[in-house]
Amino acid sequence: MRIAALKERAPGETRVAVTPETVKKFIALGATVAVEEGAGIAAAFSDDAYREAGADVLAASKVVEGADIVLAVQAPDVGDLKCAKPGAWIAATFDPFGQRDRVDAYAQAGLEALSMEFMPRITRAQSMDVLSSQSNLAGYKAVLASANQFGRAFPMMMTAAGTVQAARVFVMGVGVAGLQAIATAKRLGAQVSATDVRSATKEQILSLGAKPVFVETVEGIEGEGSGGYATEMSEEYQKAQAELVSSHIAKQDIVITTALIPGRAAPQLISDAQIASMKQGSVIFDLAVAQGGNVEGSKPDELVEKHGVTIMGYANTPAHLAADTSALFARNLYNFLSAFWDAEAGKPVLDEEIGDAIRLTQGGKVVNERLAG
Ligand code: NAI
Repeated sequence: MRIAALKERAPGETRVAVTPETVKKFIALGATVAVEEGAGIAAAFSDDAYREAGADVLAASKVVEGADIVLAVQAPDVGDLKCAKPGAWIAATFDPFGQRDRVDAYAQAGLEALSMEFMPRITRAQSMDVLSSQSNLAGYKAVLASANQFGRAFPMMMTAAGTVQAARVFVMGVGVAGLQAIATAKRLGAQVSATDVRSATKEQILSLGAKPVFVETVEGIEGEGSGGYATEMSEEYQKAQAELVSSHIAKQDIVITTALIPGRAAPQLISDAQIASMKQGSVIFDLAVAQGGNVEGSKPDELVEKHGVTIMGYANTPAHLAADTSALFARNLYNFLSAFWDAEAGKPVLDEEIGDAIRLTQGGKVVNERLAG
């Protein structure tokens, strides 16, 4: 069983899908591991560290030669996988809805694409969930980046020269990233409030010591939508939410938006008029900017100045703390493959529940029901 990891090719992608730690663990399972030269440099893992862990560190042209499984953060182009074994598995993020052409190309090439974003949200798969592990650190980074951009302090400070007021931070969307953003802003001493459409999050917001801001006049999503995800809200709800946000947002210094709906563009939560109502010097960090954005006018990797407010957001937030995000991503992949490792066969054998959920292509066809039609 040969496992290979290429250096990521996407612009700005600094993460890597295997680390020296997971190389050792895969070898302990009986696999051999090949890593492309320089694959971990941007995430602070040297070629020597991979060699010491037991990996073959090889040039791009050799690394996938004879590979049974290729691991990646972002799925490579099929052109980079020509020397892999026929029917090889590629476990990576595929952005299956956004990059349908790539999925079709994998099918045509006879490869088996395993989309880590489609990992079901069930208890036993929590340790395999790359969306959670990456969102968690992204939520943290969004607060630090905003704090850095903000021309004021976060905590209240009583000094001989007078009092510095605590910053007011509002988190919109309280999934994995939002919860970490709340916790991080609290740790920095800010006054934190938060909102979501899922009523189950109210309790979580309170437990972190933040203030919930919720639409009470129209029903949100009771409990959780399918798999814990949100769905698109009614027009009536959206209107009530916009009104609530308008009155609250005008008093905020920092707003962090994290709202996503799987398979759709991110919902717009903040309009230009709402930005105009905010105080001079306020900062909005749009964590959903790469999925279309929650904030009118936000642009990936640009500081947009509007009405005296800075709107920011990274095209790839997890790439801004690549050592930690890579370590977690690599462990997610190891946890996934090792959970299904069949010692006798010397390879992983997936069960139906997880296999069918994440498998996009097999035997020359697109087989995932979420991509049907
Ligand atoms: P996500 O990244 O898809 O969305 C972020 C947040 O935005 C969600 O909380 C969503 O409700 C919210 N949102 C969507 N539209 C909105 C709107 N119009 N206004 C305000 N907020 C809006 O969600 P994420 O972070 O992936 O987590 C969703 C849930 O799944 C959480 O409850 C989480 O605890 C759960 N989960 C369960 C796992 C498991 O059991 N294996 C693993 C990971 C998460």
